[in-house]
Amino acid sequence: MSVIKIRGGRHLDGTVDVHGSKNAVLPILAASFINGGISIIHNCPDITDVRTSIAILEHLGCEVTFKDNTVTVNSHNVTGTSIPDELMREMRSSVIFAGALVSKMGRAELSYPGGCKLGHRPIDLHLNTFRKLGIIINEEHGRIQCDATQVTPARIFLDFPSVGATENIILAAIGGEGVTTIINAAKEPEIVDLQNFLNSMGACVRGGGTDVVEITGGRPLGDCEYTVIPDRISASTYMAAVVAAGGTGEIRNVVPNHVSAFIAVMRECGASVSVRDRTIRITSSGKIRPVKLINTMPYPGFPTDAQSLVMSIMSVARGTGIIKENIFQGRYAHANELARMGADISIADKIAVVRGVRRLSGCDVYAADLRSGAALAVAALAAEGETTVHNVHYIDRGYECFDRALASLGADIERIDDIE
Ligand code: EPZ
Repeated sequence: MSVIKIRGGRHLDGTVDVHGSKNAVLPILAASFINGGISIIHNCPDITDVRTSIAILEHLGCEVTFKDNTVTVNSHNVTGTSIPDELMREMRSSVIFAGALVSKMGRAELSYPGGCKLGHRPIDLHLNTFRKLGIIINEEHGRIQCDATQVTPARIFLDFPSVGATENIILAAIGGEGVTTIINAAKEPEIVDLQNFLNSMGACVRGGGTDVVEITGGRPLGDCEYTVIPDRISASTYMAAVVAAGGTGEIRNVVPNHVSAFIAVMRECGASVSVRDRTIRITSSGKIRPVKLINTMPYPGFPTDAQSLVMSIMSVARGTGIIKENIFQGRYAHANELARMGADISIADKIAVVRGVRRLSGCDVYAADLRSGAALAVAALAAEGETTVHNVHYIDRGYECFDRALASLGADIERIDDIE
């Protein structure tokens, strides 16, 4: 096991480069199974979920190399149609391989995905929309069989703009003949990135980033080369670190309009934020104004993945703020750990009331998931004394060299591996 020790209470002053987007590259890696050719994918972060995706691709018969943030996938001789339970349980994105397998092989055998424990995370939207595409679904003994000798095009209305379901439908529809339309599709930048990657191999996907996505299946697919967008949640995490600790940070390799909702909230907290090309410069006195209300929403609303970051910042604001988590049922695991540091937070169902305290104090805290781990590190930067963040393996799932990134911003931070 690994821990991260952070000595807080000092202003930051530094520069950090944002790595490639976890939530963009994971569906793109699943999509690289489909073209039966070579996919060269640049700006791929070296994170645990990428390593798991590579393990799934290799299990299915792909040849994969990964060096210097470039993954090369050769899916010429794929034979597999089944993903073992232990790989499925490693992450949420394993479920996106269902669409890729059905598209390419006409069938898929998998089990329910794992991923961060954020409350109930069913896949009913994935399976119900697969049925509308003519895919036969059978579930027994914990395994899900998807059979589609021919994916039939359909007009699909999503009850909720689910990111994963949108991605899965796109991948499944690529293998069918004719035009499939998704209405009420997720509009996240990661959907646009998947669309652009698929089109670079010869597919025809239109409307990504809007709530109507159109997929023309049956097109010949070939080799491709693509560069993944930067990770907007990592960029937000580094901005939050500067605001919590106070000081100045330069965050490079960002797509500014992917983080505009987060920048607006940082400005509400009193930070000054300037944007030039793909660089964000953020400065904070360390005196944080309370944010009245945060409502997490599908993109382009305030992202649920940044909710825990704002809770850490609000814990030391000069006043009270309210957070409403509308996307996931149980995404407040960080609140109990923040309370151990002296935070004053009341939770009632979806609502969290955060009363800012003068100072947090460092102590041992335990990450329960990826973004709660990042939020505890952000809080530790604002705390008096030393904080030890445990369960760093959660953070490793989505942040490349997290400790080094914060150190490059000026944090007093040390990662210790192989702790008993
Ligand atoms: C993606 O998860 C992201 N993960 C999540 O990021 C992100 O929080 C989420 O989208 C929302 O933006 C990846 O892209 C790998 P959803 P996903 O389907 O696809 C419910 C992180 O920290 N739902 O949009 O699972 C679901 O339970 C991770 O990087 C159903 O009810 O999100 C949730 O309440 C965490 N049935 C809501 O919809 C379904 O079939 C949003 O889920 C599918 C989803």
